[in-house]
Amino acid sequence: AATLSIRSEISYVMIKPDGVQRGLVGEIIGRFERKGFKLVALKLFQCPKDIAEEHYKDLSSKPFFGALVEYILSGPVVCMVWEGAGVVKSARKLIGATNPLEAEPGTIRGDLAVQVGRNVVHGSDSAENGERETALWFGKDALVSWEPALAPWLI
Ligand code: PPS
Repeated sequence: AATLSIRSEISYVMIKPDGVQRGLVGEIIGRFERKGFKLVALKLFQCPKDIAEEHYKDLSSKPFFGALVEYILSGPVVCMVWEGAGVVKSARKLIGATNPLEAEPGTIRGDLAVQVGRNVVHGSDSAENGERETALWFGKDALVSWEPALAPWLI
């Protein structure tokens, strides 16, 4: 495993409990794979309250904060880190607008969700938050460093 500092940009992407409950894990991971980003961390995780509160700490004064934390704790989530040039902005495009009713068709929320409080997936909103959220959910040295093989199964 390499440290975060020598890597290119990373985004922390999380399939929220509704995405897991609805059987959308493969569908969502597949969209990031097909786009061409590199998966460098992945786990199914029943989140403790302190991590959810820390993750969303900038929203602690919002009226929906309690409901948001409860939603994230309501079942297991799938935590992922995707790496690649421009991955933060691109992941947000793939995910679509926060309110699924405003998300474009073709995006994850536009295709698969209806309610803002059940919007299936999270993606970091900046490169800095990509690093911060990865450290929070996985620890600093948990990323897997790997290079694509030269398709030896075809030779
Ligand atoms: S805000 O109000 O501009 O700060 O909100 P926004 O940046 O669009 O969203 C921040 C995260 O809060 C979630 N959110 C909500 N959850 C539950 N209920 C309501 N009403 C609600 N509004 C916003 C939103 O999905 C964002 O979470 P993530 O996990 O980053 O998508």
